[in-house]
Amino acid sequence: MNSILSPISVPSVPGCDVRQSQAATPAPYTLAQLVADIKLHLGKEGGIDSSDVDEAYLVSLARKYNSNPSDWAQYYYSQPGKHYTRNSIEDINHKANILLLVWSPGKGSLIHDHAGAHCIMKVLAGKLTETVYYNNNNNGAVDKEDADTTPLRVKSERTHSLNEVAYISDTIGLHRVHNPDPDNVAVSLHLYTPPHAADIGYHVFDETTGSSTFVRQAKALSMAEKMGIKA
Ligand code: SIN
Repeated sequence: MNSILSPISVPSVPGCDVRQSQAATPAPYTLAQLVADIKLHLGKEGGIDSSDVDEAYLVSLARKYNSNPSDWAQYYYSQPGKHYTRNSIEDINHKANILLLVWSPGKGSLIHDHAGAHCIMKVLAGKLTETVYYNNNNNGAVDKEDADTTPLRVKSERTHSLNEVAYISDTIGLHRVHNPDPDNVAVSLHLYTPPHAADIGYHVFDETTGSSTFVRQAKALSMAEKMGIKA
């Protein structure tokens, strides 16, 4: 693990000029309030199942928040040698993971599923292109015996701008996300609930064959890990 914390140069975000808000403007809804509302909704005790989650309500909370770099600068960590970094904002024990992802210019994730969980993504800086694929294994999309040898078909592709919120689950399909900007990083907030990918694992897929590989546990970096401090 790289033990050098790269300098935090948070991109300026259009529409996020703090000088604009003066006297009579109501206080903005902060990232800390968003996290608190997510925790309140998911409850304190025990684990949850995907069907216990009101994803439309969580999406509405994510929409309510307007990106303010001073809220999330403390989680921002960019590693130019990596496609993207996954930085923990809040780990709600067996309920959800909330992460800040920093995407290197032009880079993206592999095609993946969501281990039966809900995934909500909000763009905090830059833009992110999301390509959604049909899952060969879903609803008889492809004969079972051909699922590992049939190219994945694109279902939709969309570029999400600042403050836009996207939602995906395995019922919708598989996806990959990438930063289309060749020069600047992009930043996004991700909510995974339940946190199955972190607790159990998930699958990545080869676009040309449809075959999948199981990945054990999606990891996120804590601040201590980013600074090379051993627990
Ligand atoms: C994504 O592409 O949706 C992000 C994947 C991740 O959380 O690692």
